[in-house]
Amino acid sequence: MSTREARSIMEDPKVATDDSRAPAAPPTQVTVTAGGTSPVPRADEVAGPHPMLTRDLNAYFGSHHVVEGVNLVFPSNTVTALIGPSGCGKSTFLRCLNRMHELIPGARATGDVELHGQDIYGKDADPVAVRRAVGMVFQRPNPFPTKSIADNVLAGPKFMRVKMGRDGRDELIERTLRGAGLWDEVKNRLDAPAGGLSGGQQQRLCIARALAVEPDVLLMDEPCSALDPQSTLRVEDLIRELSERLTIVIVTHNMQQAARVSEYTAFFTIEEEGQPGRLIETGPTREIFGNPQNPRTEAYVTGRFG
Ligand SMILES: Nc1ncnc2c1ncn2[C@@H]1O[C@H](COP(=O)(O)OP(=O)(O)O)[C@@H](O)[C@H]1O
Ligand SMILES: [Mg+2]
Repeated sequence: MSTREARSIMEDPKVATDDSRAPAAPPTQVTVTAGGTSPVPRADEVAGPHPMLTRDLNAYFGSHHVVEGVNLVFPSNTVTALIGPSGCGKSTFLRCLNRMHELIPGARATGDVELHGQDIYGKDADPVAVRRAVGMVFQRPNPFPTKSIADNVLAGPKFMRVKMGRDGRDELIERTLRGAGLWDEVKNRLDAPAGGLSGGQQQRLCIARALAVEPDVLLMDEPCSALDPQSTLRVEDLIRELSERLTIVIVTHNMQQAARVSEYTAFFTIEEEGQPGRLIETGPTREIFGNPQNPRTEAYVTGRFG
């Protein structure tokens, strides 16, 4: 793909991001960073509010340094796409954003992840509360297959010991299933096992399950990679709809998808074998695709490597 073709991903009316959602002015937080050398701009330099940012974030599996020095800001009510070749640390970085990385034996992270100005790795931070505020949807839909559709939605609140009466439960089930664009398809079989749903429905159920605890940020790791094209488009529509209320960070290997759903794109790569993954360039998605500043970004978005 040439840069022009990459740019045309942005301009194709079928896939272009809707102008009304593009930021009015390029926000100042989208400076090019590499290897953690550029400081994160102060919060007051960032256009608009932002619930989450990382400062010099590093991730390790034992002695293997897999993500180095990432500074990124996620503005409120936007979708940020993380792109880059396989193995460059996108999933690991994502899991650091809600303290899921540390659940893997030997895994650790250094640096800061701020959520509403608080370091989620701070002494007083509660990882369970962090994971409630920062939800996650995975590559393969992973509902509890033998649990009912309704119980899948309620699993999070139950785990968090949220007290609810019957009416509250019914209201939550309907609200979150509507929010995930699944209500009409399942309203007559809420007691049926989730395993009977199609893959696309299961993924939307997982999104409903994540929404049920009312997160502020939703992390999505290649959420459409196991779905057929039609289910993919439904989930993409849903992502855009949800970003009116939530801040979304999505890993995708699909350039068209990044172009369709995100306002911002962050390109990660490994520069040399054995080195950690680094953030190479980030900015408004149309800039990253249409006018990348770094030749590695250009090579990747035009399909010449990765
Ligand atoms: N559970 C794990 N244990 C050890 N190493 C891992 C684990 N998961 C990923 N890695 C390594 O971390 C690096 C980054 O992987 P990952 O974050 O999955 O990359 P991406 O999502 O960009 O493909 C890779 O070298 C990978 O082999
Ligand atoms: Mg991955």
